[in-house]
Amino acid sequence: MKITMIGTGYVGLTSGVCYAEKGHVVTCVDVDEEKINQLNSGQCPIYEPGLKELINKNVPKGNLYFTSDIESAVKEADIIMIAVGTPALPDGSVNMAYVDEVAQQIGRAINNYKVVVNKSTVPVGSAERVYEIVKRFSDIPFDVASVPEFLKEGSAVKDVLSGERIVIGADTSKARDILIKVHEPFEIPIQVTDTRSAELIKYAANSFLAMKISFINEIANLAEKVGADVLEVAKGIGSDSRIGNKFLNAGIGFGGACFPKDTLGLINIADQVGHNFAIMKEVVSVNQKQYLRVIEKLQSVYPDLSGKTISILGLSFKPNTNDLREAPSIKIICDLIKLANGNIEIKAYDPISMDEAKGELPDSVKYCSSVETVVEGSDAAVIITEWKEIVEQDWLKLSKLMKAAVIIDGRNCLDLNEEDNVLYVGIGRKMTRLNNGVLSVNQQ
Ligand code: UGA
Repeated sequence: MKITMIGTGYVGLTSGVCYAEKGHVVTCVDVDEEKINQLNSGQCPIYEPGLKELINKNVPKGNLYFTSDIESAVKEADIIMIAVGTPALPDGSVNMAYVDEVAQQIGRAINNYKVVVNKSTVPVGSAERVYEIVKRFSDIPFDVASVPEFLKEGSAVKDVLSGERIVIGADTSKARDILIKVHEPFEIPIQVTDTRSAELIKYAANSFLAMKISFINEIANLAEKVGADVLEVAKGIGSDSRIGNKFLNAGIGFGGACFPKDTLGLINIADQVGHNFAIMKEVVSVNQKQYLRVIEKLQSVYPDLSGKTISILGLSFKPNTNDLREAPSIKIICDLIKLANGNIEIKAYDPISMDEAKGELPDSVKYCSSVETVVEGSDAAVIITEWKEIVEQDWLKLSKLMKAAVIIDGRNCLDLNEEDNVLYVGIGRKMTRLNNGVLSVNQQ
């Protein structure tokens, strides 16, 4: 079938390329001509393992096209998918301006029956909203459906090609049958439902995962006070299949383009209908404070941070992506500079997101070319993102390059223990090595 994917962000580009990989003829559209030129010359504008290879495989096969001509792309398509940004507004509600604009463009260009699909994460009722907008411009019959995307950045291609479920929300049998046919080649279980339920599934899925993270972070915070180890607790509860062992990694909280926005979005959706979603409010509140744990730990080692050199390992909001949206690294670095009234040296290293970081972080941050150079001569190393390259270092060897062997592990990703001659501090961990009796952290 002919699919037009509007928006070439993480969701639009990855899912568009994967539909092409599954044999559909896909045209990806974006208003950003530079991005389209990049894609047409075989470059991938985002870092996503395996994506570039699939682009370069499917373009020569005639399955995949990139254009900024939305009108022609709409006319040619059987199915039009909307995957443009839906950022949060300051009050937590969803900014639907880009979706609305695309709906108008579809309405102006539509020439025969199409299924319009919302792939962006949009509030409940958005399928009807898009329907009304398109309808204003045209009498040609069409349907609007909701097929939310569940891909994760860093493993997006794998998630789309071999996900655990596909949710199709459609309110007419015609749209439902077409969308089932489109998705059958993926050989993934399909749940067919109505549009409103599909829209709520997306928010509920992300919010539930965010809730698991805030829950385990609160257990970590409690574990420190009662002398327990969160890794043991997570293992102990995670082996109960009703709880599950995924998304129980305690640390500095969730970031990225999705969880922070979608948790607020769900609260807002509930508020709109007079429902006080108290649990989600608490999930957000725990997360907003969690990054401070790293700073508190650093301050318990160095009550006065002035004149110190701190190395930051990892900048992206999680490994395998160069995405810095809502990355805890930014808040942590800015807070440290503020706490030391600017009199602090921040050295940073990230395998791929340092170029992006330069536009987000204060100019005083020094970027280093390797893990060795970033830790060299520093008073403390703070691990923010658990990149494999960072985790798999010989940290005992590295600690010898530091001015003081203090390692604050914001992701509990290193395997250091009490025998090691470093002060290693995780989040919610019992273990602490006291170096020359410098201080006590994590003790009751
Ligand atoms: C998330 C969801 O996992 C996807 O299913 C969803 O499709 C996507 O949002 C979206 O709505 O587009 P993503 O934001 O790419 O995907 O990243 P995750 O791997 O879910 O991680 C989100 C954040 O939670 C990261 O900051 C990560 O470090 C943090 N996290 C994750 C934890 O702190 N602990 C964990 O145990 C797991």
